Amino acid sequence: MEQILILDFGSQYTQLIARRLRNSKVYCEILPYSAAIEEIKGKQPKGLILSGGPSNIYSVNAPRISRGVFETGIPVLGICYGMQLISHIKGGLVSKARKREYGLSEVKIVEKTPLFEGLPSKITAWMSHGDEVKKNPPGFKVTGKTNEISIAAMENPQKNIYAVQFHPEVHHTQFGEKIIENFARKICGVEKEWNPYDFVKESIRKIRNEIGRLSAVCALSGGVDSSVAAVIVNKAIGRRLNCIFVDTGLLRIGDRERIENIFRKRFRFNIKIANASGLFLSRLKGIEDPEKKRKIIGKTFIEVFEKEAKKIKNAGFLVQGTLYPDIIESVSVKGPSAVIKSHHNVGGLPEKMGLKIVEPLKFLFKDEVRRIGARLFIPREILSQHPFPGPGLAIRIIGSVTRRRLEILRRADKIMRQEITKAGWYDKIWQAFCVLLPIKSVGVMGDERSYENVLAIRAVESVDGMTADWSKIPHKLLGKISSRIISEVKGINRIVYDTTSKPPATIEWE
Ligand code: XMP
Repeated sequence: MEQILILDFGSQYTQLIARRLRNSKVYCEILPYSAAIEEIKGKQPKGLILSGGPSNIYSVNAPRISRGVFETGIPVLGICYGMQLISHIKGGLVSKARKREYGLSEVKIVEKTPLFEGLPSKITAWMSHGDEVKKNPPGFKVTGKTNEISIAAMENPQKNIYAVQFHPEVHHTQFGEKIIENFARKICGVEKEWNPYDFVKESIRKIRNEIGRLSAVCALSGGVDSSVAAVIVNKAIGRRLNCIFVDTGLLRIGDRERIENIFRKRFRFNIKIANASGLFLSRLKGIEDPEKKRKIIGKTFIEVFEKEAKKIKNAGFLVQGTLYPDIIESVSVKGPSAVIKSHHNVGGLPEKMGLKIVEPLKFLFKDEVRRIGARLFIPREILSQHPFPGPGLAIRIIGSVTRRRLEILRRADKIMRQEITKAGWYDKIWQAFCVLLPIKSVGVMGDERSYENVLAIRAVESVDGMTADWSKIPHKLLGKISSRIISEVKGINRIVYDTTSKPPATIEWE
């Protein structure tokens, strides 16, 4: 398969390079900068992109690249740190910039180059660097400048090496995607239009061969990833895919029924529903600490799943809906995102089960998975649903989880979802949910004084859950949700709307 390889030097934007290529229908993968030359060559890439990174090229631990990469003849594009590395290796001069440049700059294109084909003579580009190339290496000509720096882009077309100081992968850079596409198509000669669905067709064939006559097990949660992964494997091995849906008792109204209707009835999945709500609730009794809740839920989930999985004959494989961003490791720097995410992997199913892992989505991004899902006739209610955390409503009940509190939260949550959907806001927001607080407040109901629970409503906008802004949903809609919950859900007499962004708050309350 024609592909571009991205070597990651730890930039927070590395994934964006991949996104731009995929948007341009060019297949690409990301490898750590330290990948061995044999591994790089083994993938037979049509081109290499060296990402940006936080390091200084002259520091002792500055990430370098495997010897011989530039001798392979494979076209190279260096971005930011990638450009400085090229300059350093090829005999140019890199030094500290007069002032650190962060933000938008105007880049003047001063030479005709296939990299900038189809671009105007000036573009606004995103800069984020403290160092700059002061002198271009021998054989390199300057192709772009800004008011601040005299070498904003350079190239050696004979050697097929191109470099830009700015970040074409960042959304704010005008024609950024075009620059990356030019590199792939005009310089590297990538011809085919990559399509994630073809990729899936190929992986169905591979999975069928790999699993052979054995069976596979999948923890189907009904979320986008596990659903699409399961449908793909189901296409490969049919009812030898055994799905297990663990009903933790911490789900929302309709979650279990949706699984039954869509996967059991429509897709004719072989699916076992393990009702473990009693077990989960008894173990959560009196537990208030959020991390303890997560641990108990993760552990109990695995226990229930394992018990069911053991009953399956000939099981040799475990299907997981891992996505590409989950496996891309930023090797040079572990950014805060890496740390934040780690606690979200609910347990991780244990290796001791002796099952081989099948991950049909591990090279795909979420939007590609959604598109594939649509081609596989998975309904919208699955594909465009908001994320729902593994520990479920347990982390949306602050304090200890009881049947009664779950019931109150479930009913409020259903009303909130109904109203948001009816008003056409469901698809505009990343996540909306209710949180039941451990405090009571005074109210009046008719002539009587009430003393009941406070409920918080949280709705946020986000692209990846890492940062988020609180959603400015109309007051009228908030009012409608609020008055319906108060009148229809016994046990709640006050509702508040959460107006904090992430950071400083997190999306969930626990
Ligand atoms: P936070 O609250 O960290 O959430 O801002 C970011 C995203 O992750 C989801 N989330 C979880 N998902 N297990 C999960 O599977 C968890 O323990 C968990 N905690 C938070 C959250 O819903 C949001 O989409």
